[in-house]
Amino acid sequence: MNNSELKEVGVIGLGLMGSSIVAAMLINGYKVIAFAPMEPDMANGPDYILHALNESFKQGIHNHEVAQLQANVVYTRDYADLRNCFLISECVIENADIKKNVYALIEAVVSPETIITTNTSAIPITILQETLLHPERFLGMHWAEPAFTTPFLEIICGPKSDIAIAETLYKIAETWGKEPTLVRKDIRGFITNRLMYAMYREGFNLVENGYASIEDIDRVCRNDAGHWMAFCGLFRYMDLTGLQAYYHVMQDLFPTLSNQTSTPKLIEDIAKEGGNGVSNGNGFYKYTKEEAAEWEKAFEEFSYDINNLAKKYPINLVEQRLKNKQ
Ligand SMILES: NC(=O)c1ccc[n+]([C@@H]2O[C@H](COP(=O)([O-])OP(=O)(O)OC[C@H]3O[C@@H](n4cnc5c(N)ncnc54)[C@H](O)[C@@H]3O)[C@@H](O)[C@H]2O)c1
Repeated sequence: MNNSELKEVGVIGLGLMGSSIVAAMLINGYKVIAFAPMEPDMANGPDYILHALNESFKQGIHNHEVAQLQANVVYTRDYADLRNCFLISECVIENADIKKNVYALIEAVVSPETIITTNTSAIPITILQETLLHPERFLGMHWAEPAFTTPFLEIICGPKSDIAIAETLYKIAETWGKEPTLVRKDIRGFITNRLMYAMYREGFNLVENGYASIEDIDRVCRNDAGHWMAFCGLFRYMDLTGLQAYYHVMQDLFPTLSNQTSTPKLIEDIAKEGGNGVSNGNGFYKYTKEEAAEWEKAFEEFSYDINNLAKKYPINLVEQRLKNKQ
């Protein structure tokens, strides 16, 4: 198909997530207007996208010619190029004022029907929606990295969002191979980050109070939750392993869990000195350049492997197995 006939989507920001979403959208057959708000985006974004398209081809995620997909992306720094997009995914830095400023620039060039979404990790949609001219078409669309492999996607409504638009987006996202979650009522952190940050907080609590080392906490995550979470969720897991035990444990354990509301000193100290983890060698662990590159490579390989394993055990596995027995 000539790329002038393809539906157009826009992605704003070519950092880690924006680039990953550009790759996902190209694989799903769209023409992508890839907007680079800052100069460095053009230095790194296109290389990341090319690597993602090549690697996902090798891994069987798609079977398109990579050169053809690359021909379907338009890199730009001009907001006017977004005018024909039916869907836009904003992926800029996690700062409400910067994001709101970006929406004003987008709304100045697109039609009132264009669906505008944010990949914010945790800023309430209610806040980001405040200054929009047409807030009913604004939704959270929260991806996980790598956007082109994981079935994860949260679609989040703010109080002014039109639920019918959210439901349409949900159906579109299913055609991308996503298993979306529709968050009908806005809440800070949405679903996944509320769950994950509850675990992060307890991890910091255990380390900072001397119960266990960072290495030991990481080992427990890997070897306990890490062995079942790609198979099922919390509630199914409690059913599989006996709900009664959880009921009794909760009564005594919940009152002892951390309810700290300040940011842990352990992360604050590293963050304030500029540490960013693997990307600059300074995180909860230290990394030489060589070690950092190996961690990134291994994580990429693992993402493809876990994706294949999870596909072997789809969400409707039991339903399918019972149908096959009939
Ligand atoms: N990294 C993740 O795993 C992840 C997962 C889900 C959601 N998110 C969210 O996605 C968004 C982007 O995160 P990321 O990890 O890609 O970050 P990143 O640091 O890799 O990229 C940040 C982007 O913001 C742009 N930017 C920086 N300052 C700007 C400004 N003043 N005006 C306009 N654009 C500016 C940069 O050009 C870049 O494109 C954030 O809201 C983040 O919370 C990240």
